[in-house]
Amino acid sequence: MSNNLLKGKRGIVFGALNDKSIAWKVAEKAVEQGATITLSNTPVAIRMGDTKALAEKLNTIIIPADATNVEDLKKVFEESMEALGGKIDFVLHSIGMSMNMRHNRSYDDLNYEFFDRTLNISAISFHKMIQIAKEMDAISEGGSVLALTHIAAQRTFTGYNDMADAKALLESIARSFGYVYGRDKGVRVNTISQSPTLTTAGQGIDGMNAFVDFAEKMSPLGNADAEECADYCIVMFSDLTRKVTMQNLFHDGGFSNMGLTQAVVDDYIEKK
Ligand SMILES: NC(=O)c1ccc[n+]([C@@H]2O[C@H](COP(=O)([O-])OP(=O)(O)OC[C@H]3O[C@@H](n4cnc5c(N)ncnc54)[C@H](O)[C@@H]3O)[C@@H](O)[C@H]2O)c1
Repeated sequence: MSNNLLKGKRGIVFGALNDKSIAWKVAEKAVEQGATITLSNTPVAIRMGDTKALAEKLNTIIIPADATNVEDLKKVFEESMEALGGKIDFVLHSIGMSMNMRHNRSYDDLNYEFFDRTLNISAISFHKMIQIAKEMDAISEGGSVLALTHIAAQRTFTGYNDMADAKALLESIARSFGYVYGRDKGVRVNTISQSPTLTTAGQGIDGMNAFVDFAEKMSPLGNADAEECADYCIVMFSDLTRKVTMQNLFHDGGFSNMGLTQAVVDDYIEKK
């Protein structure tokens, strides 16, 4: 159902790989809500994933970019403004990757080149994206920039590995740039901290199925799915949240404020 919350707005969605991706759902909902958008992902993801099918469905273009490369990012903003006919109103950073996780390197046996890449791809790319946009004055006043994060930034979760450090940095960048961009150009910057979700990136986390089950039982409203995360992103892109900036917003069915639920107690006693 459309409420035209994004009518007339122009956006860029980074990170739609396949129909499980959170960015995929955001792209679909943004168009449904009246926005025009461009998509971006790495050349290899565009080749191997389903991004082209999404672009066809939404009648839009894909601009290939490695989000760690500032020249690529510059191109994304230039070509998006050209294709959409003006400054950008919202940007979604839905990007994460850890080579240490892919190679099963534990947190006390990290490969440091991989660690650099984790931080660069999953967090510093957010800084690069925003800095380039600001230099180019590519985002209109009142614009909204969002990245997706996880509660492993605040608390330790087994298996989350070096992505926890990347998420802590990502959230810090949102605060620091939220101040600077808000002060200078009236642009807001936030992160949404999402429940565990069974996407391609999500499934790379060691023990993910157990975590999904545990989080479901620890959340009074249950886990939030990708579709619901996309709904929250749409609200954050809309004019209904004009004064929300520099925040890490939990979207997790209440998980982040729970200590222990009866469902977990019952489960534990049953298994003992
Ligand atoms: N799935 C979860 O449980 C969960 C929970 C909280 C937050 N998140 C975050 O949500 C975001 C989206 O992940 P998802 O779960 O939809 O998985 P996904 O695998 O569908 O998306 C990850 C995307 O990152 C892209 N990417 C990787 N390296 C890149 C690079 N160098 N440049 C540009 N793009 C690159 C991939 O191509 C892919 O499209 C990530 O930041 C992830 O950490 C996911």
